[in-house]
Amino acid sequence: MTDMLSRTHTIALDAADPLRLMRAEFLIPKYKNNDQAYFCGNSLGLQPRSARAHVQQVLDKWAHEAVEGHFTGEAQWLTYHEQVREPLARVVGAQPAEVVAMNSLTANLHLMMVSFYRPTAERPAILMEAGAFPSDRYALESQVRFHGFDPAADLIELQPDEADGTLSMAAIARAIEEHGPRLALILWPGVQYRTGQAFDLAGIVRLGHAQQAVVGFDLAHAVGNVPLRLHDDGADFAVWCNYKYLNAGPGAVAGCFVHERHANTDRPRFAGWWGHDRDTRFQMGPDFVPTPGAEGWQLSNPPVLAMAPLLASLELFDKAGGISALRSKSLKLTGLLEALIRTRLSDTLQIVTPGEPERRGCQLSLRVSGGRQRGRELFEYLASVGVLGDWREPDVIRISPAPMYNRFMDVYRLVEEVETWRGV
Ligand SMILES: Cc1ncc(COP(=O)(O)O)c(C=O)c1O
Repeated sequence: MTDMLSRTHTIALDAADPLRLMRAEFLIPKYKNNDQAYFCGNSLGLQPRSARAHVQQVLDKWAHEAVEGHFTGEAQWLTYHEQVREPLARVVGAQPAEVVAMNSLTANLHLMMVSFYRPTAERPAILMEAGAFPSDRYALESQVRFHGFDPAADLIELQPDEADGTLSMAAIARAIEEHGPRLALILWPGVQYRTGQAFDLAGIVRLGHAQQAVVGFDLAHAVGNVPLRLHDDGADFAVWCNYKYLNAGPGAVAGCFVHERHANTDRPRFAGWWGHDRDTRFQMGPDFVPTPGAEGWQLSNPPVLAMAPLLASLELFDKAGGISALRSKSLKLTGLLEALIRTRLSDTLQIVTPGEPERRGCQLSLRVSGGRQRGRELFEYLASVGVLGDWREPDVIRISPAPMYNRFMDVYRLVEEVETWRGV
């Protein structure tokens, strides 16, 4: 074991971490009166301490002002959703008018496809990755059927070509080239939920647009995890949830990006009154005039109580110095986990996630030597000693050190616990 991977050095990493104070902004679940080593930010991020006060403020306003709460003060409900616009845009590398917080991820994916999946007889197909998150597959398949096409022919699922179930950019490029003339839409993840692989979004946009396909992204596992440049990369649309690395709470209001070039599109859309032009919304006219930009896809007035924790969370992203500061800690944190596994646990754990830092976010997906049963045993042992990862069928333990609140010593503790389980 080299000195760089020692306990002493790990303690020093925490002491020197410029983001070390961010952890105190979160409520860390307990294990026997001590903090859990919580590695499930890829599933549900931890609660910002300030979330309670933000929710309480809405409750108080409701109690004291009732309907007037829509119109009074800076946090008035009429424009409450606009407060999250700029910080959210910063996190995804967008212009403020390109993002909106609304609905849930799958609902937003459907709304985006109403506008951006317009299949024709010549160009009916969607390209996606095989093994995508099931909700995406259900949504895409149902859209293909909705338009009267056959998913067996027109939902093209690209199989992994790399040993650990990951995908090379060459394979993606070949598929886009091969199916190009038939592609209406490419829907791709920013980070794959099971393998933790991060993709070259700009490259996928470039290849897709060269074939005249629309390119959209599911950023559930990418947002708040890796730096994104949605505007510059030129994505047509993107959707994401805010309950993972964005720490906005279970079932949090989701996010949606529509590129500026579609701000005034005449593509069809499913409309609702909150998407109507802000200036004339309350004239209550019969004809829908969309608000330019992503807000034009809103349906209903926003769930203000649910939006409050998102606001709390986004304030912490700014306080941390933004996604680039978080990413630079993340590279070290996940790098430490990888190095410790490779030097101390190589007989026990196989890393599924790509080794190149630019091809992953903070998550490492692990397979346990000996197969699924051994994997379950380790997963359950870790949970029993307060080290929380999560399990994805058929045989993967996902460990996501989140730079916002995880310590380097959390990673060290995980490795020591795996050694204890294995019998050092
Ligand atoms: C990659 C991905 N896509 C879609 C979803 C579905 O999200 P929702 O239930 O918010 O629609 C999830 C949920 O975890 C996910 O991880």
